[in-house]
Amino acid sequence: MKVTPSMLRRVVVFGGSGYVGSAIARALTLVTTSPAVKATTQTTSSDAAKADAKADASDAVDIVCASRTGAPPSWARDEPWAARARWVKCDALDVAQCRETVRGATAVVTAIGGLPFPWLKAEEIVRTNGATNVIPGRAAMEEGVRRLVVVGASIPPFVPGLASYAEGKAQVEAFARDEFASESNGRRAFILKPAAVSGTRRMGGGVTLPLSLVMDPTRAILRACGGALVENAPVPLENVARAAVKAALDDAYGNDGFTMITNKSLIEDFGGEVA
Ligand SMILES: NC(=O)c1ccc[n+]([C@@H]2O[C@H](COP(=O)([O-])OP(=O)(O)OC[C@H]3O[C@@H](n4cnc5c(N)ncnc54)[C@H](OP(=O)(O)O)[C@@H]3O)[C@@H](O)[C@H]2O)c1
Repeated sequence: MKVTPSMLRRVVVFGGSGYVGSAIARALTLVTTSPAVKATTQTTSSDAAKADAKADASDAVDIVCASRTGAPPSWARDEPWAARARWVKCDALDVAQCRETVRGATAVVTAIGGLPFPWLKAEEIVRTNGATNVIPGRAAMEEGVRRLVVVGASIPPFVPGLASYAEGKAQVEAFARDEFASESNGRRAFILKPAAVSGTRRMGGGVTLPLSLVMDPTRAILRACGGALVENAPVPLENVARAAVKAALDDAYGNDGFTMITNKSLIEDFGGEVA
């Protein structure tokens, strides 16, 4: 039996070229198999072989990364995971483009956002963190996608100047909870709420920012302090990626409806060896 397109799962990662989105896309490629490889799978007519083929088909996942540039980040162009993903141009603020991009997907991940730099207008910050995630999410809902995974944020109450950022994040959280996952219709929505994400941010031109050098000791200190401070401790990038992959692919994971994955849970439940 040949693996047909209808047997394949497709995960679309909005912002798949970004710091967090590229880690998610990479992690997806590491735990799944390329549809191109599975498409060549042949089986015999025995029941056991048919069962094997079904199991095989379930781990064949088409991974689509959507962004305005529609290309992998320059630092990743030679990496196998980037070659394994499909890269498409899609402006997350364009409803028609989003609908076309998510059509046929089994899960949609949104990882778009921007820091509230002081030179930006409040409405721009709200839009960059809200509508850029809500519009793909709504497109997914309207196209019959049953799983939505949103990378949101834990926002420390003691840091000033984050109101517009928080408003954008609140918009997408409300959409995921109250619209995408509101009825018992089999749809599931997940919001990941990382605080600062610790890792190595790779920029163009070979420049790297080893954020973990500062953030990992900070996490250790905040965890040692105990209490609610862990919700503001930097979380490893790989943990965020693992949680997004689980939410996107594991049918047994999550509540019926809405699941929030806190920063504490991202740190404590999604650690492990970095692949
Ligand atoms: N980094 C952190 O420490 C951190 C902490 C907590 C939460 N988060 C959240 O994680 C998410 C991702 O953050 P990040 O740091 O990975 O951001 P990033 O590195 O700036 O990546 C943003 C991604 O979104 C894409 N994008 C931006 N606007 C778009 C649009 N209109 N349409 C389609 N794609 C668009 C960008 O590609 P193009 O420019 O090509 O479109 C890029 O792939 C955000 O929601 C952020 O708030 C991040």
